[in-house]
Amino acid sequence: MNKTILILSLISFTFSGIASGENEVIPLPEPIKDGGVSLEKAISIRRSTRAFKDEPLTIEEVGQLLWAAQGITGEGGFKRAAPSAGALYPMEVYVVAGEVEDLPAGLYHYNVQEHALEQMREGDPRTEFEKVTVNQGMVTDAPITIILTAVYERTTVKYGDRGIKYVWIEAGHIGQNICLQAEALGLGTTTIGAFRDDKIKELLEREKEEPLYVLPVGVKP
Ligand SMILES: Cc1cc2nc3c(=O)[nH]c(=O)nc-3n(C[C@H](O)[C@H](O)[C@H](O)COP(=O)(O)O)c2cc1C
Repeated sequence: MNKTILILSLISFTFSGIASGENEVIPLPEPIKDGGVSLEKAISIRRSTRAFKDEPLTIEEVGQLLWAAQGITGEGGFKRAAPSAGALYPMEVYVVAGEVEDLPAGLYHYNVQEHALEQMREGDPRTEFEKVTVNQGMVTDAPITIILTAVYERTTVKYGDRGIKYVWIEAGHIGQNICLQAEALGLGTTTIGAFRDDKIKELLEREKEEPLYVLPVGVKP
């Protein structure tokens, strides 16, 4: 690992630490890197799914989705599953977990370096979450919802105001990875942009992070 990568890893780790606090850390299962569904198949079957079966996700599926979003894929534990301007990784990933096998319902932060979930809050947060997403009922039906937030400064420190545009582009990359990974797992998701920024900040207690994308994931009906 060269010096720049080491410094950036430390910055990224420090930000994750701030986001996580001292809560319980739950390791996620090792992600699969050679699943049976081709990329072309996943692209061709991808469709927004707004209703879900009343079935839980497995912790393996949750881990796989989070890995596709921001998992470490590069040598030396640094580079991630989605491209990032300057490899500055401005995004944080959260999970509203209602029904997941072997995972207590709660609000979680994805610890990228450890491929683990940090519990932020216990109890099913989904009903409260529906208000956050302008009453889009699918978030209460979905067993989980993934939230992407951004710390703009990680990117604007290098690129100035143009960095904001880069962060938005990155949210698209990550969102598409989640969509295609969901399809490859036989699951469905929708990319939600209609939500209350202030309410998400409140829910997450992350005033300084900008919520950018909300993706409920569940078993297709
Ligand atoms: C940036 C963005 C925001 C979106 N916001 C919402 C939303 O708030 N609620 C919703 O039901 N769908 C939302 N969608 C999904 C679109 O409605 C959907 O992608 C479009 O109808 C095309 O259908 P498809 O995804 O099945 O191909 C959003 C999509 C994008 C890219």
